[in-house]
Amino acid sequence: MMEVLNRVKNLQVVDEFLTFLGIYDDVKRERALKKLLLKEKEKIKGKTVVEAGAGFGIFSEWMKKLGARKVYAVESNPLVYEVLKEKREITPVLSTIEEFEPPEKIDVLFHEFYGPMLYDESLAALERLKFSPEWVIPDGGRLLCGVVNVKDKVVKDRVLQAFAGVLITDLFPWIRKVPLTIPVAVWKYGEGLRILNCEVPEEGNFVVFGMEIWHEKNFVCSSLTCTNWPLVWTPRLGRRFKLSFEWKDGITEVLFEWET
Ligand SMILES: C[S@@+](CC[C@H](N)C(=O)[O-])C[C@H]1O[C@@H](n2cnc3c(N)ncnc32)[C@H](O)[C@@H]1O
Repeated sequence: MMEVLNRVKNLQVVDEFLTFLGIYDDVKRERALKKLLLKEKEKIKGKTVVEAGAGFGIFSEWMKKLGARKVYAVESNPLVYEVLKEKREITPVLSTIEEFEPPEKIDVLFHEFYGPMLYDESLAALERLKFSPEWVIPDGGRLLCGVVNVKDKVVKDRVLQAFAGVLITDLFPWIRKVPLTIPVAVWKYGEGLRILNCEVPEEGNFVVFGMEIWHEKNFVCSSLTCTNWPLVWTPRLGRRFKLSFEWKDGITEVLFEWET
């Protein structure tokens, strides 16, 4: 994990940029999303497309290679945009996707706005667009969980109590082996997020969450296949929990608590 150690003026912008850099270590994510775009080539060829949250623009460039007529690469982080704007083949735009008003009709919007808890990054921004793309790629996702009973040498049940109701990423190496079989939430572009009424089994002291990306009923990739998304754990303190997401000033917060 990278950390800024000294006092800097624009800490949030620098911090976001740092977090984002690690994304490109995950070649499986890049491969899965490029494969998806290749499959959707006919929707892109000769069309006007937008990448929402373009980062360094690797998928914007890929869509251009696949024959897009014009690619608007929209990015809200000014430091990321400084790198993006050097790309000549595409049209970089410094803006949030919610504020972006394209000067022409948009055929396709591509994004990778998924968070470790599915909806905790920027998917909510896609419900606030000022334009109506004909296609959104990818258009769906799921959040799943699994329960496991682990006796950790350090994090014993007594220690776990300190993290009651706290969602924590990674830490344990065994976390990637937990089968995630219980559906928790479903997101579909145009329909929004649906939190399901789920119950977890009583056997086990940890609950582990992971998300999956889907497009048109096809699996694309997941927290288990791609290292970019950490798995999330919390001590299991009951059979039912309340999960919701709150969007405020462009940031989505996760609200989580066990039902008593
Ligand atoms: C997970 S990264 C994905 C980058 C790129 N699409 C990729 O997959 O390599 C998300 C990017 O979207 C940007 N971003 C987040 N929310 C945004 C928003 N509401 N509007 C525009 N850009 C946003 C972030 O600054 C970051 O660069």
